[in-house]
Amino acid sequence: MTVLDIPELALVALVGISGSGKSTFAGRHFASSQVLSSDAFRAMVADDENDQSASAEAFDALHYVAGKRLRAGRLTVVDATNLQPHARAALVRVAREHDVLPVAIVLDVPEALAWERTEARSDRTFGRQVLGRMSRDLRRSYGQLAREGFRKVHVLRGTEEIEAAEIRYERLF
Ligand code: CTP
Ligand code: MG
Repeated sequence: MTVLDIPELALVALVGISGSGKSTFAGRHFASSQVLSSDAFRAMVADDENDQSASAEAFDALHYVAGKRLRAGRLTVVDATNLQPHARAALVRVAREHDVLPVAIVLDVPEALAWERTEARSDRTFGRQVLGRMSRDLRRSYGQLAREGFRKVHVLRGTEEIEAAEIRYERLF
């Protein structure tokens, strides 16, 4: 079992390529109301969870809701790839604005497995190259997360470690 220590009030950023199992992980470990997913916010603002042209508006709304939750002292999980520094910087900013610790949980699975899963989904239509780009972004992300301001960076490598992970909440005071 891999225990992931997380402050009981945190902004948790899941980080991983498409098909790495972020949404599955979020569904297993957190209440649905705690999880803000980029897909859901794209659907909210554009009626289409895959409409990438809606991303800016979707994330704007997601950050707004995250801020409302953190202000109320509610643990919040962001289910998005979070592979780009600018995407993560926005989350660190929201967390800091509310004196909440930003935490990253990286799900790292072999690209071939992620592609297999993605190909099998009717709700994902992007090509193999897109996944390759995400993998490159993930590799670059490793050296950056801590210095970007994430107070804890938990890395789960491979399906077994992901399956065996448990969240343990740390009391803040
Ligand atoms: N899946 C699986 N076994 C796991 C985890 C996920 O078979 N241990 C499947 C899911 O059922 C889903 C696909 O793999 O059909 C992708 O998993 P998901 O959690 O949706 O991955 P995400 O990282 O959320 O992908 P995306 O970024 O595209 O939302
Ligand atoms: Mg998902």
